[in-house]
Amino acid sequence: MARKKLMAANWKMYKTPDQARDFFHNFLPLVAGHGRDEIVVCPPFVDIRASVESSKNSSVSIGGQNLYWEKEGAYTGEISATMLVATGCTHVIIGHSERREYFGETDDTVNLKLKAALEADLTPIVCVGEVLEEREAGLTEDVLRRQCVRAFHAVSTKKAGKLVIAYEPVWAIGTGKTATPRMAADAHRLIRGEAAKTFGEEFANSMRILYGGSVKPENAKALMSEGEIDGALVGGASLDPKSFAAVVKY
Ligand code: PGA
Repeated sequence: MARKKLMAANWKMYKTPDQARDFFHNFLPLVAGHGRDEIVVCPPFVDIRASVESSKNSSVSIGGQNLYWEKEGAYTGEISATMLVATGCTHVIIGHSERREYFGETDDTVNLKLKAALEADLTPIVCVGEVLEEREAGLTEDVLRRQCVRAFHAVSTKKAGKLVIAYEPVWAIGTGKTATPRMAADAHRLIRGEAAKTFGEEFANSMRILYGGSVKPENAKALMSEGEIDGALVGGASLDPKSFAAVVKY
């Protein structure tokens, strides 16, 4: 079954609302009429409103970079799934390796966040991936398996509906090093296998698995030509309208 590719921008902690508006002003004409792939931009929370307004009447969707699993409450500094939806988000990144590394996220919080996102009808982009020491120690498969099993815990096939996974080998993020299409494809097959165990073959075959880690205009085509790779999660190269458009149109 053909899976429509999802090309996602992760702006991380870059851009003010005005800079976000500028981005869309320049980016949208470059991808006007591009219907082959789905496009989503995930700006910092404070830029969501400007991004939603600027991308209105385009096919570009907006997503959050994180969420908290409770609906509301005394959780200073946090944002709920309902709030993301109310602001016009349709997607949300969950468990990015930077959140795991710097902000104490674990497989268990990823699971709670995933359930909250699905409950709110957001499309979750759940990030998994090994660090360099794990790859070198031959632990990549174990790590990916554990991250998937724990992320998917107690999520039913029916609820999992829009689940998207992003395979992001941590050693490839922001380093200029990319996994080869072959390495990524091997990891994707393993992840798809784990999804099949939890959600069944049919679901797993239709589930999109993105690759992330130094995707840029120069390597996007080779990566996206690999049948197992269903799109990209793009950090650095998504900040510039021309370079993200070039990735999208690989
Ligand atoms: P990068 O980031 O493209 O800058 O490597 C990818 C990501 O962290 O999602």
